[in-house]
Amino acid sequence: MKIEIKNLCKKFDNNIVLKDISLTIEKNKSTIILGQSGCGKSVLIKTLYQLFNFDSGTILYDGRNYVDIDKFSMLFQYGALFDSLKISENIAFTDFINNKSNFDRKVLSLMSDVGLDKSTYGKYPSEISGGMKKRVGLARALYKNPKVIFLDEPTTGLDPINSDKINELILKVISKRKITAVSITHDIKSAIKTGDHYYFIHNGVIQDKGDCKKILKTKNKIFKKFITGARY
Ligand SMILES: Nc1ncnc2c1ncn2[C@@H]1O[C@H](COP(=O)(O)OP(=O)(O)OP(=O)(O)O)[C@@H](O)[C@H]1O
Ligand SMILES: [Mg+2]
Repeated sequence: MKIEIKNLCKKFDNNIVLKDISLTIEKNKSTIILGQSGCGKSVLIKTLYQLFNFDSGTILYDGRNYVDIDKFSMLFQYGALFDSLKISENIAFTDFINNKSNFDRKVLSLMSDVGLDKSTYGKYPSEISGGMKKRVGLARALYKNPKVIFLDEPTTGLDPINSDKINELILKVISKRKITAVSITHDIKSAIKTGDHYYFIHNGVIQDKGDCKKILKTKNKIFKKFITGARY
């Protein structure tokens, strides 16, 4: 699905988070959203996901301003797993809450896709590691066969080896399932590896954009400082 965002403005009371955002999410491509902590990355994707309304501007989904939300999935920044539910019930959440019970095969197949051992099936989130929780979040996001997947910091908090594994996984599922992906990351290496296009948000606007493979060649001074960790 193609998503076109034009002159989007989103504020909370007097806090204008997104001033004037225009960007295009291309169909079946991987778009990366970058920016300093607090710049509005999560707010942007939650707005696209229709969890928030917005103040002005337009969002077009395949040319229309309405969309069937069932086509979307999100891997939330902090996992958002339900502590009181087993891993299998978390993954099959949409069926589980509707009292459907024959989800075993689908869950096991997804667990295998995301590299989760069968032994975690009946465990609770508190019994598994951070990297495994990300995999569970990814499996849950894939459960309903989304057309668009939003990934909010899928590798944050993981060691480099596990980050790399999650990145490989993301690349695999995006290409295998032909999904449009929108990811937020602070990790430039992940952006280069998993992204096609990037957008860098600063002070509520898109400060820089381009091809992820050319991130390190950017001429934008503010984005350069962000990449190198220098102060603005
Ligand atoms: N539900 C909300 N109500 C009011 N303000 C909010 C809400 N959600 C986010 N904000 C505000 O919007 C701004 C951007 O928050 P957001 O979570 O999008 O940042 P972010 O770029 O994702 O940061 P990080 O990299 O730390 O996750 C912050 O000032 C935050 O306080
Ligand atoms: Mg965030």
